[in-house]
Amino acid sequence: MSIESCRYLSVCQGCHFEKMAYSEQLEIKKNHLAELFQNHQLQPPPIAIRSLGENYLRQRFDFTIHNGRMGLYSADREIIDIESCQQVASELQKAFSDFRSIPFPIKKGSVRLRVGPSGLRGVWLDFANTDIKNLLDEKNTLERLWKLGFHIEIGQKGKVPIPGTESYKLSAPQPHVWFKTQDIPLKSLILNFTQPSWNTADALTEIILKWVSTLGTQLTVAEFGSGIGQFTLPLLASGHNVDSFESHILATELLRLNATDSQLDKNLTIYCDDYHKKPLPSDLFYDVAVVNPPRSGLLQFSDQLIRVKTKNVIYISCFPESLIEDLEKLLASGYQIKEIQIVDQFPQTKHYETCVLLERIDF
Ligand SMILES: C[S@@+](CC[C@H](N)C(=O)[O-])C[C@H]1O[C@@H](n2cnc3c(N)ncnc32)[C@H](O)[C@@H]1O
Repeated sequence: MSIESCRYLSVCQGCHFEKMAYSEQLEIKKNHLAELFQNHQLQPPPIAIRSLGENYLRQRFDFTIHNGRMGLYSADREIIDIESCQQVASELQKAFSDFRSIPFPIKKGSVRLRVGPSGLRGVWLDFANTDIKNLLDEKNTLERLWKLGFHIEIGQKGKVPIPGTESYKLSAPQPHVWFKTQDIPLKSLILNFTQPSWNTADALTEIILKWVSTLGTQLTVAEFGSGIGQFTLPLLASGHNVDSFESHILATELLRLNATDSQLDKNLTIYCDDYHKKPLPSDLFYDVAVVNPPRSGLLQFSDQLIRVKTKNVIYISCFPESLIEDLEKLLASGYQIKEIQIVDQFPQTKHYETCVLLERIDF
């Protein structure tokens, strides 16, 4: 089914291109990136774009419940009640339809649904404390979710509700396999960051592994923003040594767990701190840095890469505006761009993921 037939398209802000052919959307993304380069007086090599399909890709779905409506925002900041979304994969759509059959006794709250690689269903309810307490006291809503096969996480810490005779209680969070990378299982909580789809994420990983393989074997890799191991585990499985620099404590614990479970932990060192600010240990040298920062970009981490004279940098970015600023800095410090590849991680939206390979030429 084409996205053009989506009945929410004119009001829902989840998609950004009304009635535009998908091929044209891909051109717009390439041109947007090329224009950013031009605006910064930078000359990019040819920009390639890879697509994994124009809809039904997402394996996690974030939406809002507001006064009985479940869906995404309109331009007027109203929640559009949507029954189906053409961005989500079919198993997740089934889970969403089942979830919608339950009336939620709250005014407003955020929800994330996931369906894992083995079909496991999960929901993270990020509600106000009073609404959480009501859910635990009222019991019926949680029981209906369990009957529909959902694993449930509640609140900012992702605690798990457990039945009790009086009010239900919250117990410690429990990681499950909600994602995979190159067929390696990735355990996390539902609330943890993952890319939106393992199909598009695998396309990013393939680009990284291909570029790294041209640089050598058994390389020393510095990874900024490893998360739960999306790129880390395939790099380790390919025989490289990885130093992970990640600020999120829970993500580093899960990265350790995922590496150990897959017997890939031997050549992994994890540093947990805010590497936007903290300097790298001074005696380190890297063949390649794989960086996948948040929207804010690398900030001071780019200075660290320059200072320790990292030979190659592979930059994966979902936010081209901060990417271009970091590239400007790296190019002014002896690096040159070898390749650029866009992966259309977010079809039907103006967003996209950019992969850039840089080499230090004054090395
Ligand atoms: C876009 S996510 C990428 C995660 C992972 N590469 C993946 O694909 O799932 C960015 C990661 O950078 C981490 N991060 C954000 N700020 C950071 C900082 N100041 N120092 C180190 N890591 C940071 C986040 O916790 C998050 O895991």
